[in-house]
Formats: sequence, C-alpha cells, structure tokens
Amino acid sequence: MQGFLFFIMYILGIESSCDETSAAVYHPQNGLLSNVVASQHIHSKFGGVVPELASRAHQRNIVPTIEQALKEAAVTADKIQAIAVARGPGLIGSLLVGFSFAKALAQRWGTPIIPVNHVDAHLYAAFLDGDDPDFPFLGLIVSGGHTQIVLVEAPAKQRVLGKTLDDAAGEAFDKTGKMLNLPYPAGPVMDKLSKKGNGNFHRFPRSMMDESLDFSFSGLKTSVLYYLNKHYSEGVSEQELSDLCASISEAITDVLVSKMEKAWQQHAADHVVISGGVSANSMLKQKMHELSQKHGFKLHIPKPALCTDNAAMIASYGWQLLKAGELTHQPETLDKPFASYPF
Ligand code: KG4
Ligand code: ZN
Repeated sequence: MQGFLFFIMYILGIESSCDETSAAVYHPQNGLLSNVVASQHIHSKFGGVVPELASRAHQRNIVPTIEQALKEAAVTADKIQAIAVARGPGLIGSLLVGFSFAKALAQRWGTPIIPVNHVDAHLYAAFLDGDDPDFPFLGLIVSGGHTQIVLVEAPAKQRVLGKTLDDAAGEAFDKTGKMLNLPYPAGPVMDKLSKKGNGNFHRFPRSMMDESLDFSFSGLKTSVLYYLNKHYSEGVSEQELSDLCASISEAITDVLVSKMEKAWQQHAADHVVISGGVSANSMLKQKMHELSQKHGFKLHIPKPALCTDNAAMIASYGWQLLKAGELTHQPETLDKPFASYPF
C-alpha cells in the first residue's frame, strides 16, 4: 500500500447519488484541481427529485462532466491513478450510473477503484480548503436526505451518534416550504426570506429535545400544516411569508444546534465540522458560531459549493481511505451485485 501511495498523484472523484452529476480531480499535495457539478433543474417543476428522471439525466451528463473535470484540471486520463466513487446511500438508479461508469473507466485505465460512503464523504469536504480539522472531530451532516451527528475518531473511522428518525433537516425545509408554495428546493429560498422575517412570529415545536442525539422533524411539518390551514387558508402576505420562514427556520436550527451542544458536552472535540446542503443556512451558521465561541471549539464549514453534493468531497474521502489503508478494488473484483458490497 505504501508503495502505491507514493505514486498516487491524481484521484478522480465521481458522484451521482441524487440529482447532481459531478466529477472532480484531486491531488493530495496540490489540492483540488477541478470540481464540475451538473445540476438537474428538471425536478423543480415536480416539487422533488424524480428518481427515473435523475438516472436518465446522469447518463446524459456523466461523460461531459468527467471530460470537463479533466480539462479544467489540465490532466490527461493516463495521469489518473485511482477513482473514488460514491457507492451509496442515495437513489439506486442514479448511483448505478456513476458506479458502473467508474468501473468501466477503472477497467479501461487499469486503476483501482475506491467506493465511498456518500454521507460520510460530506465531512471530508472540510479537508479541501487548506485548514484541515484535527482528529477526533464532531460532525453534523445536514442534507436533503440525511441528518446525522458523527464522531470522527480517526481518518475514515467514524461513529454515528445520532440521526433523524424521519425527515432530514433539508426535507423539513423543503416540505414546509412547499406548504408555503415556495419552489423546490425551498431551503435556500426560506433562508433568504427569513432574513426579512421575525423568528418569534410563531413558536413551532422543537421535537425530541431530550438527552438523545436523534432527531425528528415530522411533528414540525404537521404543526406547520395545521397552523397554515387554521390561520392562512386564504394565503399569506409577503411579510407573513418571511415571518413564517424565519419561525420555521428558528425551530429547525434550534433542534440542530441543541443536539450538537449535547454531543459536544459528551465528546468535547476541539474541532467541529458541519456539511451538507443545509450547512449553507445563515441562521444555522450564526447559531453554530455562537456555540463555538461559548465552548471554545473550532468550527469548520466548507464553502457552499463543497457542502452540497459534489465529487470533490468523494475524492477527498477516497484519499483519506487510501491513507488509512482501506481496501481498494481492482475493477474486475467488482462484479458482484451492487447491493452486496460489504461497505
Ligand atoms: O447536500 P445536498 O445538496 O443534497 C443532498 O444530499 O440531499 O442538500 C440539499 C438540501 C435541500 O433540502 C435544500 O433545501 C437544502 O439542502 N439547502 C438549504 C440551504 N441550501 C440548501 N436549506 C436551508 N438553507 C439553505 N441556505
Ligand atoms: Zn449529499
């Protein structure tokens, strides 16, 4: 492994777990050389990701996206020495496009393949801006599909401390936003509107504020629905819309931050990483900064382009797995049914 690592120069990352087709080129010493993300706007008119459409768009996008990533990095295919690819969790049809393509490329190029967990990979976006977190660190992954608190004890060695029992934080934004007739994904729109709103306009419930580090957002969703039906069946004014967005955002971020405080009290890590699409949320960032000042930990929030789904984080995690001596696979050993991979 060490001999192989010595020669590692360029890693190609491939991500296709949901509705972003992405490819990136990462070099352990020179950092991130490219990160191309092809977003699929087709889903917005359906109010959520349509899996079949997502798979088809990945098929259209995968070749030009990888070509563009190599071009922007000014790297030719023969320089790529390992391919890191998202192996899940995610939409199975979407994952298969990226994973099968990675296998084919690995076979053609004779490179090993590093299958990585997409959710864990979000945390490794924090290793791409030249200010790496120290191990062990606490991580909060908040995306459209996942909400998890994780203790990362060593490179590529993480333990899930808490997770959502129903909706993810991003879904809580998207689904309550949909009730307010906001376009999908509603999270960024609600963030913007919240800045003009009063967060104390209405107190929505904060669920599971007990000792557990698990989350639940379905009660909030129901509460927003009942509240709107009762008070706003005729629609909302512009100011009320902002006030409601701010009040909902307060409820979601209060839960996230309070659980992170509990996790920190139990594990007291010097560094904390937040990643995933929702980590772009201004209210969450503000509250987490206040928490970091209160407890004296260093907070890492990757820039928004690295927080949403992207292949840079896949390549970055792939490198950490390689360094940690984790198994890589020659492509010909990857012929088992996809679902039976043991990682
Ligand atoms: O990580 P991501 O790009 O994709 C998934 O793996 O799910 O996260 C997308 C989620 C969506 O639910 C979106 O509404 C939410 O992140 N999001 C935000 C913000 N930006 C994106 N939620 C709240 N505030 C934001 N600024
Ligand atoms: Zn994600």
